[in-house]
Amino acid sequence: MRTQVGIIGAGPSGLLLSQLLHLRGIETVVLEKHSREYVLGRIRAGVLEHSFAALMREAQVGERLDREGQIHEGFFIAHDGIKERVDLRGLTGGKSVIVYGQTELTRDLYEARDRFGGVVMHNAEDVRPHDVDGPQPYLTCRVGGEVVRIDCDYIVGCDGFHGVSRQSIPKDKIRVFERDYPFGWLGVLSRTKPVSPELIYATHERGFALCSLRSEALSRYYIQVPFTDSVDDWSDEEFFEELRRRLPGDVSSALITGPSIEKSIAPLRSFVVEPMRFGNLFLAGDAAHIVPPTGARGLNTAASDIYYLYHALVDHYSKWDNRGLETYSQRALARVWKGQRFSWWMTMLLHRFPDSSPFDRRLQETELAYLFSSEEALASLAENYVGQPF
Ligand code: FAD
Ligand code: DHB
Repeated sequence: MRTQVGIIGAGPSGLLLSQLLHLRGIETVVLEKHSREYVLGRIRAGVLEHSFAALMREAQVGERLDREGQIHEGFFIAHDGIKERVDLRGLTGGKSVIVYGQTELTRDLYEARDRFGGVVMHNAEDVRPHDVDGPQPYLTCRVGGEVVRIDCDYIVGCDGFHGVSRQSIPKDKIRVFERDYPFGWLGVLSRTKPVSPELIYATHERGFALCSLRSEALSRYYIQVPFTDSVDDWSDEEFFEELRRRLPGDVSSALITGPSIEKSIAPLRSFVVEPMRFGNLFLAGDAAHIVPPTGARGLNTAASDIYYLYHALVDHYSKWDNRGLETYSQRALARVWKGQRFSWWMTMLLHRFPDSSPFDRRLQETELAYLFSSEEALASLAENYVGQPF
């Protein structure tokens, strides 16, 4: 089999790139390790930038997002028993974010790939990129017991943090920057009315908590837990009891609880690999970088990678102009690092660190006090939260 661009991974990055390229007449084949049901079963991002929505529209998949996505013009930070609002709209000259689940967005992309006859091979085992530093790279894998070989011009690794693409690059050709945090987020999805129409990020001596939502009848809540905890350590009752403790009184008394329909733990990690290219293999999204979820940058940063790579590939195929491909890594990384800085900062501001000293605590308290006493500091937070331009 032959294609122009072989894509590893059918998460949002891989599907979006495949759909965008298809509309510009560039052929792709997407290889996905898991089944479609498995991919759609993952509950992850909830907050999207407008530039992401614009890219979805360009990919002709923005209709449901525009209809069902909720525009959020602000969010709250709760601390010391009170909640203070960050007025995104007022602080950014009219900007906002969109609440629309990654699951729905992935479903929309799958439907589009079906509609346009896109090739997405699921349950692809042992996917491997070959000869990526030569002129004729190819992919191999096993699908239904058969060995498949796909010859391509370029390979794009959109296979997330644990994927094979980054791991196939020789260690001496890349540099890794990383930081682990000694906790994770335990998340619960429940069919209940959200406690607040706007998100509440809460910091408390017992740890961080987040009240988010997917719709008027679907709530998404998170609490900071030690990284050694597992989902089985937390019954629904224990989860909501702990969440209540970390929220201001008026919020916790208004919280409606119900059985979890999904419960999972996400570890917190900052990670960047440089460069995001090795020969004819390009990395995009979580395959190249991970942020802690605080501040909702992960998927949005994946979208900016896809934006740069999509334009670079279109320029290559339509004008034989390779400048976009040559500068992809540099351009993508400039925005990646802004997302890294912001996610790290918001994580440090709002979480409790088991090994923090009294000095560290005072700095954290002062950072929060400064934030709510300075319009400029709040404006900087808001500018980063709504997303920097591509
Ligand atoms: P992935 O979604 O990881 O997709 C990679 C795909 O590749 C998967 O389908 C995987 O099965 C497949 N794959 C892996 N290995 C192989 C292989 N060897 N062969 C073939 N296929 C393979 N981001 C935001 O912007 N906003 C938010 O509000 C937000 N909230 C989050 C909340 C949580 C709890 C978590 C965990 C993350 C959150 N994120 C958020 C981050 C966001 O979910 C990720 O950045 C996003 O999923 C990245 O998309 P991706 O397509 O690059 O990678
Ligand atoms: C959600 C996740 C985030 O990381 C965040 O900052 C805000 C919302 C969510 O899953 O709803």
